[in-house]
Amino acid sequence: MPLSRRSFLAMQGGALGAALLPSGLLAAVQAKTPPLPPLDDWDKVRAQFRLSPDYLHFAGFYLASHPESVRAAVDGFRRALDENPFLIVEHGMFESDAENLQRKVREDIAAYLGGHQDEIALTPNTTTGLALVYHGLPLKAGDEVLVTTHDHVVHHESIRLSTERNGASVRKITLFDEASTASIDGIVARVHAAIRPQTRVLGITWVHSSTGMRLPVRQIAAVLKDVNRDRDEATRVLLVVDGVHGIGAVDETIADLGCDFFCAGTHKWIFAPRGTGLVWARADNWARLRPLIPSFSDAELYEAWKQNRAPRGPNVANRITPGGFQAYEHQWAMGAAFRMHRQIGRTRIAERIRDLNDQCKRGLAAIPKVKLHTPRDAGLSAGICCFEVEGSKPNEIVGRLLARKVIASSSPYAISYARLSAGLMNTPEQVDQALAAVREATKAAG
Ligand SMILES: Cc1ncc(COP(=O)(O)O)c(C=O)c1O
Repeated sequence: MPLSRRSFLAMQGGALGAALLPSGLLAAVQAKTPPLPPLDDWDKVRAQFRLSPDYLHFAGFYLASHPESVRAAVDGFRRALDENPFLIVEHGMFESDAENLQRKVREDIAAYLGGHQDEIALTPNTTTGLALVYHGLPLKAGDEVLVTTHDHVVHHESIRLSTERNGASVRKITLFDEASTASIDGIVARVHAAIRPQTRVLGITWVHSSTGMRLPVRQIAAVLKDVNRDRDEATRVLLVVDGVHGIGAVDETIADLGCDFFCAGTHKWIFAPRGTGLVWARADNWARLRPLIPSFSDAELYEAWKQNRAPRGPNVANRITPGGFQAYEHQWAMGAAFRMHRQIGRTRIAERIRDLNDQCKRGLAAIPKVKLHTPRDAGLSAGICCFEVEGSKPNEIVGRLLARKVIASSSPYAISYARLSAGLMNTPEQVDQALAAVREATKAAG
């Protein structure tokens, strides 16, 4: 168990812990981390990334390239950990709440999401967050989890693994027949019609990596609010959102979206270190969950263990944050990525992503033999453009684009499409070049 007697005393407010603190150690890490340069134009933002100039990067949403400020934060924490692993981890994790480095990360995240730092659990990715939520919910035989056919494998698998244990049933619904012609009213009506008395959870994905569809989460949450008016606390339908392709790409205050549990990796659009993510929920929803993985982030757990008793109080976000030592130089550097987003501005970022992808969708739709699947409506799309080319498999198109130095991807779903995704690392000129490559690739299809 990593919590030393010294840390334990310190967590209780004991003076002994404070006297032994390696004071100034973390301030020194911060001092070695250069401040963010002004990011007031897109060239300066693009210069933050070390992406190979040999390619046009249109799969940036897959896994983040660390920007300069994140690399500097990772390097700073790594150096400190390499020099003093014991002192740094004891001090950064277990001694004082005010200096706790996970708390500092959560404060940076809360400033971006809205809400409060203690509503956030830190996870290594979206997958772990979804698994912790679905396994933590008090589901039982007779309860139903409603999910959609559009969600990622890790969402469906989290539900399958959880319901195989607890006996709840699962039903998958389709929210639209064709993403390209879907409407907000149509989607909302299908959600409404699908809810049954035994439905306890609705799982959805904010931005689909299958089609690029962005769901109207607020309107879906409003439907559930209506349904829940006639239900008591134990039978409420809870809204679980896989938000990984919305966070960092869409201008929303996530804490206000209306979801009960928001799970996301932060190693895609947010550009936080690889292997980082979060779950956000309000205190009453955290209180519903049963933790699955022992945590190092809640002092009460350790105290209860020492005294051989059950932990006191309701479940909280910190009890869901997986414990065991982590790649702390990555986790603690998450804050740098959220600060970068705030410095550039959430609205500016979302507008840039919208403009680049609008250009991309317009161009794709005009190419003969290309069928664009992502809605043209900016309200129903974000940063992913999915398309197919008559006569070619998605992977063949991706291969032909790669031969032209354009990195695209294909969606890993039963029905797969080719994808181009424009992000902060791209320019309008690059979008035109990628479109020209698609045009050539479709000609190569014959
Ligand atoms: C919609 C969606 N959800 C979840 C994931 C898995 O993300 P993570 O690696 O953060 O677990 C992906 C993967 O790209 C995805 O597209």
